[in-house]
Amino acid sequence: MIVAQLSDIHADGSSDRLDRLDRVLRWLRPMRPEAIIVSGDLAEYDHRSSYQAVHERLEATGSPFYFVPGNVDEHDDMRREFGDRFNWPGDQRALNCSGRVGDRLRVVGLDVTVAGGHHGDVEPVLGWLATELNTGGPPALIFQHQHPFRCGIDGKDANMCRGGEALTRVIDEAHDPVVALTCGHVHRPMFTRFAGRPATMCPSVTRANRLRLDGKDPEISDPPGLLLHHFVDDRLVSHVVMVD
Ligand SMILES: [Fe+2]
Repeated sequence: MIVAQLSDIHADGSSDRLDRLDRVLRWLRPMRPEAIIVSGDLAEYDHRSSYQAVHERLEATGSPFYFVPGNVDEHDDMRREFGDRFNWPGDQRALNCSGRVGDRLRVVGLDVTVAGGHHGDVEPVLGWLATELNTGGPPALIFQHQHPFRCGIDGKDANMCRGGEALTRVIDEAHDPVVALTCGHVHRPMFTRFAGRPATMCPSVTRANRLRLDGKDPEISDPPGLLLHHFVDDRLVSHVVMVD
């Protein structure tokens, strides 16, 4: 069972960004994933037409897809474009989502964005998550935009997701198992642990950030990429694919 993860498309009305998305989706097509998740920043400018363009492309994959907003997304335009597909309550800001992937896994998307901010905050959606993780459902793969763990890349932790300790508590106290947490936002693939579980970050579709660590800089950027989470023996094996 394959869950493909895309992140940070940053569609902006230009053909360049959509061309990068098309290259990633072209690679993905033969894999026919059971679900596609997009961990935020679908569009950066020209939001209405950008969401339409991304929607058409995701729909054409034939796979069920789920996404959460990122800090450069526009909630109102997302609701307008995707509202028929997701049952987002009209009286709340958060565009959370969840869905079964077969009968052995589910994806749970947390909208941790903060209006007007580039950082994230998980506290406002923890109640929703606690309810979601106490339904007796199959193991959950949680995804969100901003990273809840310090990534250590120079300058990139100022806008991480706040409330990591509270999120850990909800995951630890939940009835339903959480197999992993994955995110986007920093435009680089990463692997670590969070709340005692595997935690990953997906490479971006748009231009990657360079891997600046401890003041050192490789001065070379990376091509677009994606993660393929393969559910094997009740655990996720996550593959990084860079597409040039
Ligand atoms: Fe981004």
